[in-house]
Amino acid sequence: MSNHVSTYNPQSRFAKWFDERLPIMRLVHDSFVDFPTPRNLNYLWTFGGILSFCLVAQILTGVMLAMHYQPSAEGAFNSIEHIRRDVNFGWMIRNFHAVGASMFFVAVYIHIFRGLYYGSYKAPREILWILGVLIFLAMMATAFMGYALPWGQMSFWGVTVITNLFSSLDGIIPGFGTAIVEWLWGGYSVSGTTLNRFFSLHYLLPFVITGLVILHVWALHVAGQNNPTGIELQHKSDSVPMAPYAVMKDAVGMFAFLIVFAWFVFFLPDYLGHADNYIEANPLVTPPHIVPEWYFLPFYAILRAIPSKLGGVIAMFGSILVLFFVSWLDTSRVRSTKYRPIYRWFFWLFLFSCLALGYLGAKPAEGVYVFWARVFTAYYFAHFLIVMPIVGLIETPSKMPRSITESVLGPGGGGAGTPAGAAAAPEKR
Ligand code: HEM
Repeated sequence: MSNHVSTYNPQSRFAKWFDERLPIMRLVHDSFVDFPTPRNLNYLWTFGGILSFCLVAQILTGVMLAMHYQPSAEGAFNSIEHIRRDVNFGWMIRNFHAVGASMFFVAVYIHIFRGLYYGSYKAPREILWILGVLIFLAMMATAFMGYALPWGQMSFWGVTVITNLFSSLDGIIPGFGTAIVEWLWGGYSVSGTTLNRFFSLHYLLPFVITGLVILHVWALHVAGQNNPTGIELQHKSDSVPMAPYAVMKDAVGMFAFLIVFAWFVFFLPDYLGHADNYIEANPLVTPPHIVPEWYFLPFYAILRAIPSKLGGVIAMFGSILVLFFVSWLDTSRVRSTKYRPIYRWFFWLFLFSCLALGYLGAKPAEGVYVFWARVFTAYYFAHFLIVMPIVGLIETPSKMPRSITESVLGPGGGGAGTPAGAAAAPEKR
């Protein structure tokens, strides 16, 4: 995976024999043990590892849940209760999986905003970023279908509202949208057939995500990691081997994350969900406020901010699609927002807009809420389409360190082969 010279040195005769036939240990060593990692990474760089943990945890707990879950309109709701009450440790596995979905999104949002702040999407990391956006889309699809499975009121009505969005295509080709909706449903309304196919796809997609993550990490190892300065590795002293340095830091970050995770699993398992989902799905009773899970709320606010249904759908999908193009929309010469005195303000405004949209997505679509949702939706798009291209051209970046080592040790501490830098770089390298 990595493009630096291999330092793998098999110790036993068996290890040598194996390495000549399948150099998988060499791959692991060069990619995750001896890989040169910038020495100045902060804790925001631990979220890639945390996300990998979340993915594995979701798959393991999901497989165990699937052993007891029944994907039918008659059995789904009760099978979840059966898991929580009767299956050994079923309550824990179910809580882990449901809370885990939220934690996965907490981690991915931090990971994305980290990338946006430090310009990790800029050359040569465009493909790495695009793969990330694909992962994000696949995660959203997986979470959406997973939320349907307990077959509660919010599951049922959430699926009804979101799948119905495709009917807006009738405005372009009459009948086309309706045909798509009925095809998705497998009938003329959301039913057990819909549930069954959602279950099938919900089981499949995490493996697609796993494949995308492998490509993502591969692309990362070709381009190398970005870092808080946004300056590339130049000297040996700019990096440390991934193990034990970055690995231990990742372990500390993961431990802190797991404390929060466990707190929710054991003490607040339903806090992030909606109470209505403990009422079995009833096609005859519509809940007064249909809201998606918290991690979809900003996109839901954008959807409802536009007065036309088709326009809302285009804006909602557009708000994600625009992420594919940030590598080219950002015209700045420097990567890290740390050295961008003007853009920095816009970055925080953008983060604030996303949080505000999240808040507004949970409110009824009326009066002042709609007004503000429109304002923040307008800024969301303006940020990518106007601010990023223009500010990058007019802004003068602030003074930057000459190297990563200098950013850590101060002026005089950097440069190739200086004693301080060399001392920090392990002899082996
Ligand atoms: C299942 C979801 C994901 C997993 C498991 C994952 C995994 C990783 C890992 C292990 C790293 C290296 C460690 C780090 O920089 O934190 C990384 C880096 C990166 N990821 Fe992800 N990622 C995921 C989703 C995403 C998404 C959704 C995006 C963007 C839309 C993204 C963009 C990036 C970028 C740009 C980097 C390079 C960061 C840098 O070096 O500064 N990732 N990812």
